[in-house]
Amino acid sequence: MEDLRIVQTASWVPNQIVENDDLSKIMDTSDEWIQSRTGIKRRHISTGENTADLAFKTGQLLLEKSGWQARDLDLILVATMSPDAYTPSTAAIVQGRLQAENAIAFDISAACSGFVYGLTIASRMMSSGMVKRAMVIGSEVLSKLIDWQDRTTAVLFGDGAGGVLLEQTLVETPTLLGTHLKTFGEFSDELSAGNTTPGCDFPKQLTGLTPFKMNGREVYRFATHEVPKSILATSSQSGLTLDQIDVFLLHQANARIIKQVAKRLDQPLEKFPINIAEYGNTSAASEPILLDECIEKGMIKRGDILALSGFGGGLTTGTIILRY
Ligand code: UT7
Repeated sequence: MEDLRIVQTASWVPNQIVENDDLSKIMDTSDEWIQSRTGIKRRHISTGENTADLAFKTGQLLLEKSGWQARDLDLILVATMSPDAYTPSTAAIVQGRLQAENAIAFDISAACSGFVYGLTIASRMMSSGMVKRAMVIGSEVLSKLIDWQDRTTAVLFGDGAGGVLLEQTLVETPTLLGTHLKTFGEFSDELSAGNTTPGCDFPKQLTGLTPFKMNGREVYRFATHEVPKSILATSSQSGLTLDQIDVFLLHQANARIIKQVAKRLDQPLEKFPINIAEYGNTSAASEPILLDECIEKGMIKRGDILALSGFGGGLTTGTIILRY
């Protein structure tokens, strides 16, 4: 039988590290508040690299590590809420720089659920026969959307990218086991960044984009209720019990949210790796960075059943269960 295989993972983060104590020098916050409320110790912040630069580095690494050639790719998806521009897509920039001339490329805008949305779209394009080899990347330079005066959002986010190479190939047992996406547009105002203003008073001067605005408590409540539902819906679709899932890779927005989801699902916290201390919330990049780290450290092995679950702006949720 043919099914989807994760061939390779890779990730890339900027070198510059900003510690909690660095932030407490420029705003009214503290390492103690940030760590106890979120689990974040530091984050990597761009020194000028844009979202496509991080995605391109990740793409290069994916090709180097796998031995694939750029021309082998049929599809490049970049999940991002911080694209370089409205147009061209960040994925198109990456396609051009990799010289992946046979790949179609476009961005996925589903904020922190974007990587799971991207995997789902790629998997459907692959099972339909349209695409055989795909690169799916989550890449964010969120620091360009941060208001460094606003302590309620500035301490939370970081920059980074991670991705996978996927192939539709012969497998012995099914690998794509279930996927569940949901969008809650009625809550679209709860988390926003980069809002634009139409030019009603011609000739209006172009203005900058708005920074992050988030109703943290509401998004927290949303995540702790909707993520367990999304995981349960996907596991029942796949015919698996939660106990049969080896690793839950949740979007890294807040260590407390992850702990609460583990509790609600009655699953041991050891099955929920957490790396938010090092990177903060990197939105669409958080799950592929975590996946890559877990594979590099040997915490995820071939044959393991993984549940990747994201939540965030839209508001959106998305879960995919697959065999690595
Ligand atoms: O990836 C997208 C999805 N995003 C999320 O999932 C984020 C979900 N939300 C959260 O993770 C949490 O709501 C936050 C980490 C954003 C906030 O934690 P909280 O425990 O909900 O804190 P809070 O908003 O209830 O604020 C508690 C207090 C407030 O002061 P008062 O009103 O009690 O006097 C805030 O003004 O903490 C204050 N505060 C801060 N203090 C020091 C807010 N931000 C800070 C800060 N440093 N950075």
